[in-house]
Amino acid sequence: MDITYHPIGVIHTPYLEKAPYQPVESDEGEFYLEILPEYVSGLKDLDSFQYIYVLYHIDRLTREVSMKVEPIWAGEIEVGLFASRSPLRPNPIGLSVVKLLRVDGNRVKTTGLDVFDGTPLLDIKPYIKDLDSKADANYGWVEKTGDLRHLALHILGIPHAY
Ligand SMILES: C[S@@+](CC[C@H](N)C(=O)[O-])C[C@H]1O[C@@H](n2cnc3c(N)ncnc32)[C@H](O)[C@@H]1O
Repeated sequence: MDITYHPIGVIHTPYLEKAPYQPVESDEGEFYLEILPEYVSGLKDLDSFQYIYVLYHIDRLTREVSMKVEPIWAGEIEVGLFASRSPLRPNPIGLSVVKLLRVDGNRVKTTGLDVFDGTPLLDIKPYIKDLDSKADANYGWVEKTGDLRHLALHILGIPHAY
């Protein structure tokens, strides 16, 4: 079965070739979702939320999809693709949670996103307190990699002193 999606807009970021592995809230530069005119009325009330989910098509992949991946920030650990956040997937759908700064006409301004400029936007959903945050969430296999704080900085692409 083939499924066809059409973008609802385009994501704008300062990144042309390299982007962080996950969104960095303190990233500098302009980050916004540009929504196609036919979908702009669907933005009503979105700005009542602090955080949103941004779903997109990871459109510029050059490497082959594999069911086993070695996340580069995790050392020499091999895990199943679906236990990872690798962008190389059978259906290359990306998901980022970011802070919504403001809605300005057809523009949804956000904090840092981890995508290349021009990435096709598939959907936006509100991130809702308690519904979307699970107090008993764990780190899964990521815990095996040792220093979780150190690792979190690597994942986010934040420079650190050690
Ligand atoms: C590890 S993925 C994580 C994406 C998302 N936060 C998630 O968890 O689904 C982020 C990486 O995808 C790559 N990327 C971002 N936008 C892309 C695009 N339009 N085409 C191909 N690769 C992209 C960049 O190398 C970036 O570091």
